[in-house]
Amino acid sequence: MEYPIYRPRRLRATENIRRMVRETRLSVDDLIMPLFIRPGSGERREIASMPGTFQMSVDEAVKESRELNELGIPAVILFGIPETKDATGASGCAENSIVCQAVRAIKDAVPDLVVITDVCLCEYTDHGHCGIVVEKDDGFVVDNDATVELLAGMALSHCRAGADMVAPSDMMDGRVGAIREELDVNGFAGVPIMAYAAKYASSFYGPFRDAAESPPRFGDRKSYQMDPANADEAMREVALDIEEGADIVMVKPALAYLAVIYRVKQEFGCPVAAYNVSGEFALVKAAGRNGWIDEQRVTMEILTSIKRAGADMILTYHSKDVAQWLS
Ligand code: PBG
Repeated sequence: MEYPIYRPRRLRATENIRRMVRETRLSVDDLIMPLFIRPGSGERREIASMPGTFQMSVDEAVKESRELNELGIPAVILFGIPETKDATGASGCAENSIVCQAVRAIKDAVPDLVVITDVCLCEYTDHGHCGIVVEKDDGFVVDNDATVELLAGMALSHCRAGADMVAPSDMMDGRVGAIREELDVNGFAGVPIMAYAAKYASSFYGPFRDAAESPPRFGDRKSYQMDPANADEAMREVALDIEEGADIVMVKPALAYLAVIYRVKQEFGCPVAAYNVSGEFALVKAAGRNGWIDEQRVTMEILTSIKRAGADMILTYHSKDVAQWLS
C-alpha cells in the first residue's frame, strides 16, 4: 500500500500538537445565560424538565448574576414569569414589570454584566401566544401590527429600566424596525437589538414553555414562527431584520439548524447568535443522568459545533457549567 505524502494523522499525535492546529475554541466570552425571573423573594424553583435550571425571584437572580459575572460570563438574557396574565400581556408591558425590576436590580449590583431582555408577549398572555389574538371564522389570527406596537412599548420599558440590549423573539413582521424607531426617538439610539431573526416553529421549545409557564392554550405558533423545512426563507428573514436595524441576528434552535447558522454567517458576516434551546439542553441532561452519555464532553462538543458552524455567541443553559469547566 502506497501512503500519501500528506498524512493527516501526523498532526493528531499528541494533545499539544492537536492544540496547535485546533480551529475552533469555545470560550467563556461566547456564552449568554438565560434567567427566568419570578415574583417573590428568596425563591429558587428548579424546572423539572431542565435539571440545574431555576426560576428565581429578583434577589436570587442578583446573586446568580454576581456568580456568572465572577465566572467571566459577559451577558444574561432575562425572561419574566409574571404574577398575572391577560389577553394583551399587560403585565409584561408595565414600567414595573417583573423583568424591569430584575434589570434595575441586576444593573445596580453588577453594572458590568450585559443585561439583555427577551421582548415577547407569550410569557404574559393568558392564551400563551406571542401576540394579540383575534377570533376569525372558526379559529383565530395573531394581529401583527397591534402586537408590534405593544412590543415597541415593552422594549422601551426595558431600556428605561436600564437594559443594555433588547431581543425581540415574537416573529411579527416589522417589529425590529418599529422597536428601533421607538428606542431612537426616546433617547435609546445606543441600545443594540439582538433579533430572533430565523426562529423556527420547533418542538425543541417544550421545556422552556414549562420554565416560562407559557405553552399556547390553543393552536400552535406556525403562523408566525418559521417552518423547520426552510432555509432560503431564513436568509430573507435575516436580511429584513438587518435592514430594519438589527445589530445581532439569531438563529434558533441551534443544533438542528447548524446549516442555517452557517449560511447566515457566510452570507451576512454580521454578529450571529445561536440559541441552544431548552429541548436541546433537556436531551443532554436526561441522557447524562442515565449514564448513557458523558454530559460534559457531549455539551462541549455540541457548543463547539455551533461555534464552528459560524455562531459568534451562544445562548445556553449550560453557560454556568461550561464557564466552570473552562476555568
Ligand atoms: C418566547 C421565547 C421562547 C423561547 C425563547 N423565547 C418560546 C417559544 O417561542 O415558544 C424558547 C427558548 C428555549 O426553548 O430555550 N417567544
